[in-house]
Amino acid sequence: MPSSASYRRGKRRFDDDDPSFVKRARHRRSLPPEPGDDSAFGLPEGDRWSTWDQSAPTERGPRPYPPWLVTELAAVDTELGILKTGKEADVFLIRRGVPGTERSCLLAAKRYRAAEHKMFQRDTEYLEGLRVRESRMNRAIANRSAAGRSMIAIQWAGAEFAALGELHREGLPVPYPVQVLGTEVLLEFIGDPDGTAAPRLAETRPDGPELARLWAQLVQALIALARLGYAHGDMSAYNLLVWRGQLYIIDVPQLVDVVANPRGGQFLDRDAANVAGWFARRGLAGVSPDPAALAGLLRAEARLQPVATQPQGYPRR
Ligand SMILES: Nc1ncnc2c1ncn2[C@@H]1O[C@H](COP(=O)(O)OP(=O)(O)O)[C@@H](O)[C@H]1O
Ligand SMILES: [Mg+2]
Repeated sequence: MPSSASYRRGKRRFDDDDPSFVKRARHRRSLPPEPGDDSAFGLPEGDRWSTWDQSAPTERGPRPYPPWLVTELAAVDTELGILKTGKEADVFLIRRGVPGTERSCLLAAKRYRAAEHKMFQRDTEYLEGLRVRESRMNRAIANRSAAGRSMIAIQWAGAEFAALGELHREGLPVPYPVQVLGTEVLLEFIGDPDGTAAPRLAETRPDGPELARLWAQLVQALIALARLGYAHGDMSAYNLLVWRGQLYIIDVPQLVDVVANPRGGQFLDRDAANVAGWFARRGLAGVSPDPAALAGLLRAEARLQPVATQPQGYPRR
């Protein structure tokens, strides 16, 4: 398997153009077990045993594990509903709890799809950069066989998990990445204990001082990201959650290494333009959410050439 870094090529996808999503958090959704699958034997329909022990140590989140995280092997995962369906992934709300005790936590399960239809707008460019050694895997991916499609979904899940782990370790505001298992990434659920998810920034209407606070948080987070050498690659008000005044960056599988990627600077520019534009339209007062100024700041933090006409940044390490 290639390292996650080889995926960090970005491509604009427009999956968030439609802000509507199905929120059925309080409705229980039961999945029938696979025929012949008795691994959930004895559990209520739709439940599964906690998958914690199925992920290898490297497929689990950064240590120390947070105290709220249920790691007990006796725990059961219950699917509570769908948070959002998307073209490339669906996000479900899961409760992981130890039966007969008070011990439980809520998780967001992002499941990458291996569906037949073309849903990976990121794929074409992404696959060009995919340095998969096994030629059998390459062929399977190239001809989009069922196996190839599921490999692609697994790669995306692994890339997002690796990116979140690094960002979390570096102190960026991202949901804690709990574990990855195949096509499923389990994340800290950002929202109420009753299962109400945090709104996306695009769905909020913060007032003046709140807007300024969120802008300050965002600029700080983007600077930290640029210092690590990354652009988000799909930064927008749809990939930011707001919870109790705190901004969280989500949806990072395409994180772009701006030094390795010849178009790295342009990804920084576009991230900057997307969010500065949103804050400007919301009427941020006092400070100027100038896209060019923010882009310049991020390029400087990433030690890239300041102007977009420069072909490439120089290595910074
Ligand atoms: N950790 C989380 N906690 C709460 N809601 C989440 C979380 N992760 C994702 N979501 C919800 O699911 C939506 C889709 O997740 P995202 O990672 O942006 O996937 P997509 O690739 O489909 O855009 C988000 O906009 C948000 O509403
Ligand atoms: Mg998204």
